Amino acid sequence: MKEDAYIYDKGDREYTVAVTKRYAEKKYELDKMLEKLIAPIIKSKELRILDAGCGIGHLMAILKEQSPASMFTGVDQTAFIINEAKKLYGKETGFHFELGDIEDLPQRYRAAFDVTISRAVLSWLPYYEAHLQALIAVTKKHLFIASLFYDGDIDFITQVREFKLEAGKKEFSAYQNVYSLPRFTDFLKKNGAKKVSVHPFEIGIDIPRGDENLMGTYTEKTIDGRHLQISGAILMSWKWIHIEL
Ligand SMILES: C[S@@+](CC[C@H](N)C(=O)[O-])C[C@H]1O[C@@H](n2cnc3c(N)ncnc32)[C@H](O)[C@@H]1O
Repeated sequence: MKEDAYIYDKGDREYTVAVTKRYAEKKYELDKMLEKLIAPIIKSKELRILDAGCGIGHLMAILKEQSPASMFTGVDQTAFIINEAKKLYGKETGFHFELGDIEDLPQRYRAAFDVTISRAVLSWLPYYEAHLQALIAVTKKHLFIASLFYDGDIDFITQVREFKLEAGKKEFSAYQNVYSLPRFTDFLKKNGAKKVSVHPFEIGIDIPRGDENLMGTYTEKTIDGRHLQISGAILMSWKWIHIEL
């Protein structure tokens, strides 16, 4: 297994789990958007669905509401997070969790999943190419990716160091990259994508600013009433990208 993109210090585990578990407590706007986009593909069907970099698996639980007969596989490389997923959803029928690196999956799962979801993973890696090729290799038909994108021909690679966390006391411990959308789309097409549909996400709700010494979403309203989503110093320019293979 390759080196983890994220460095989690033991001392930060409780905090990380608490932050991640919020996704399971109420439906987030980003997830509601996926529900709408994916419904025509998975609703009432019997499919194999992969959540790649599943975290605590909350998205699998949301999608299962639409597709209870489908088989869901969640893979994540971080042991304490996948253990949390097992605690939360391990007893659900049709759910299976694996500890592992997405980039190793094509060896076992070539074109094995009808649908693959990747939420908030690619922008948190050093870069996307090898990871994206692995996602394409394991997917038969539909790949849904939520990440941060910029409309022009510029990639932004940002390393994050939250000094307040144990990991941040030692080193830069995460990435939060914004990728050039035209370049990303071009890469997809060169790697077998037949159709790429881009769905920009706008959060549409007010979120107050929390602790400015920790990453975490808040919103600012523009003069024309739109909500800009920000985390630390980074504009969260989320898009859902639907790739048909
Ligand atoms: C920001 S979290 C997002 C988790 C989840 N998808 C969500 O939206 O809540 C990124 C997750 O990707 C996982 N991850 C990063 N690189 C990975 C890889 N190469 N293979 C498997 N999991 C990976 C991390 O362990 C972490 O749980």
